[in-house]
Amino acid sequence: MKFSTKNLRYGVIGVGMMGCEHIRNLVAIENCEVVAFADPHEPSRINAKTLVKSAVEYDDYQQMLQDENLDVVIIATPNHTHRIVLEACLRRGVHILVEKPVCINVTECREIIDIERQTHKAGRLVWVGLEYRYMAATSELIKEVESGTCGNLKMISIREHRFPFLQKVGNWNRFSKNTGGTLVEKCCHFFDLMTLLAHSAPVRVSASGAQDVNHLNEFYDEVRADILDNAFVIVDYQNGLRGMLDLSMFAEGSQNEQEICVVGDGAKIEALVTDSLIRIGRRASGRDGVVEKLVAQSSDVVQGFHGGASYVEHRRMQEKIRYGGESEVTLQDGLLSVAIGQAAHMSIAEGRIVKLAEILK
Ligand SMILES: NC(=O)c1ccc[n+]([C@@H]2O[C@H](COP(=O)([O-])OP(=O)(O)OC[C@H]3O[C@@H](n4cnc5c(N)ncnc54)[C@H](O)[C@@H]3O)[C@@H](O)[C@H]2O)c1
Repeated sequence: MKFSTKNLRYGVIGVGMMGCEHIRNLVAIENCEVVAFADPHEPSRINAKTLVKSAVEYDDYQQMLQDENLDVVIIATPNHTHRIVLEACLRRGVHILVEKPVCINVTECREIIDIERQTHKAGRLVWVGLEYRYMAATSELIKEVESGTCGNLKMISIREHRFPFLQKVGNWNRFSKNTGGTLVEKCCHFFDLMTLLAHSAPVRVSASGAQDVNHLNEFYDEVRADILDNAFVIVDYQNGLRGMLDLSMFAEGSQNEQEICVVGDGAKIEALVTDSLIRIGRRASGRDGVVEKLVAQSSDVVQGFHGGASYVEHRRMQEKIRYGGESEVTLQDGLLSVAIGQAAHMSIAEGRIVKLAEILK
């Protein structure tokens, strides 16, 4: 198998919170370099420059794509801009890491998948930043499930109880028209984990949710912020597996931001993400047999906002670029995670169960 130690030249589009997180990780990795970044917002550029002084700054990403010799582009712009930025990067032929959600709805995701097909280049990777797969506790849970610890998996429940959405540049995340809605914007991570673990296609979604507590008195150009801040979502999979999401964004007092619990016919596994703890309880051993283990990223992993997940994501993507492998988190994975979130919003708005076939047709 081919292996290349080539210095990978990165360009970053959008250097707000997440773009800078990527830069911090990349400067800690050997044989790669952030050579340029693009952002129309000067304070974001000034901040990014402190992290990577040698990079060339652009206020226009099209100019950066035209002028720079890049191997990989990271897209970390607001969700509603992903569609247009992705198209330009796909046509440029570079490897792409696009932040989640791929796009704000299924229609846009599909357009991007079509453009990827038209511009397809063997060996070119398009990787979606669904990096919760790479947190220490979640990746350990995935490993245990894949090795058969649970037996036949039947139920997956994911609880995210956390603080409200942070303030973003231009307040883009205060409106569903920009984010795709909370269940797309935030929860695509969890729907991706469910589908990954289920090894099956999602078929039905039912949800209840609302904006009950947060941002109720926030107005921008006289329009009130419209972010859903709590929901229960049930996802039925073709193989009979059931997934459930329990989201609260006014739960600052949580010990764990995310708690993932999977139950099969042989065992139950819990992943407490903030505590980085896994609990395994086999049915045959009962309560007394429950085993707890602390899991941690290896010591060389840069710990960023997501417990080292971005660092692991970059390492794995670079490995695939260097060895010539496939993307681990594909546009199709990204589309399904968006589709479930979109179906959940539709279920809430229309007060009914939504079949995935309705929006994937
Ligand atoms: N993986 C994760 O867990 C995670 C966490 C946070 C954010 N995100 C995603 O990262 C993306 C960025 O979010 P953020 O939190 O960094 O937001 P942010 O507001 O902090 O930063 C976005 C930056 O993009 C810039 N921008 C806007 N339009 C642009 C354009 N056309 N070209 C270049 N730059 C442009 C803005 O000026 C800003 O500096 C979003 O898609 C978000 O969903 C992912």
